[in-house]
Amino acid sequence: MTDAGDRPPLPLAVLLSGTGRTLESLLATIAAGGLAARVVVVVSSVPGVRGLAVAAAAGIPIVTLRRRDAADDDAYGAAIFAALAPFRPELVLLAGFLRRLAAPPAWTGRVLNIHPALLPESGAAGPGFYGERVHAAVLASGATESGATVHVVDEGYDTGPIVLRARVPVRPGDIPATLAARVFAAECRLYPAAIRRYVAAHPELFAGEDGDDGDRRRDGADA
Ligand code: GRF
Repeated sequence: MTDAGDRPPLPLAVLLSGTGRTLESLLATIAAGGLAARVVVVVSSVPGVRGLAVAAAAGIPIVTLRRRDAADDDAYGAAIFAALAPFRPELVLLAGFLRRLAAPPAWTGRVLNIHPALLPESGAAGPGFYGERVHAAVLASGATESGATVHVVDEGYDTGPIVLRARVPVRPGDIPATLAARVFAAECRLYPAAIRRYVAAHPELFAGEDGDDGDRRRDGADA
């Protein structure tokens, strides 16, 4: 599906902590015409991770900011958004970013996250629930279904209004790795679809880089 609209490509910032598979998937979707966007900067919370190499190979500016170098979550959030500012992103995407992000109020409603489980009912969310730990918890719960969730980032961790979800079955004999692969395949379609939906639903936030900048003080963004 292409995303042919009048809107200029939406400038995105991507925040990650690891492999950058989500970044790779987004870049592939953008290159294929499936999302009218461009990644203008990538920030990692961990030095030297593969995700930074993915960004650099694509010619995208990279920044590394470690949580331990900031006094607290608010200072860390402020440092990240200060680093992003010169690149003028309109939307920030968390893509395997394993730190809590305290966004300054001006960014309320402009940060999305993808989580590899159905929120809220899976309960497999919050600090410590990342990677295969999420899928192990879903399997341990006996659920017959899992999935992925794109949500607006609020002051919490894996909380915030839901934008869009995708469901996948849990199959007999699944182990965390097999469920993870099925969920990640769904994520690769879900994140672009959720971004398109969210941006289309909020023209007041995403007027385009050449247009009205929107009201960055607005809050209460919904699904
Ligand atoms: C995905 O499962 C996503 O849901 C979660 O982090 C994983 C992607 O990390 N937020 P990466 O792109 O492989 O680094």
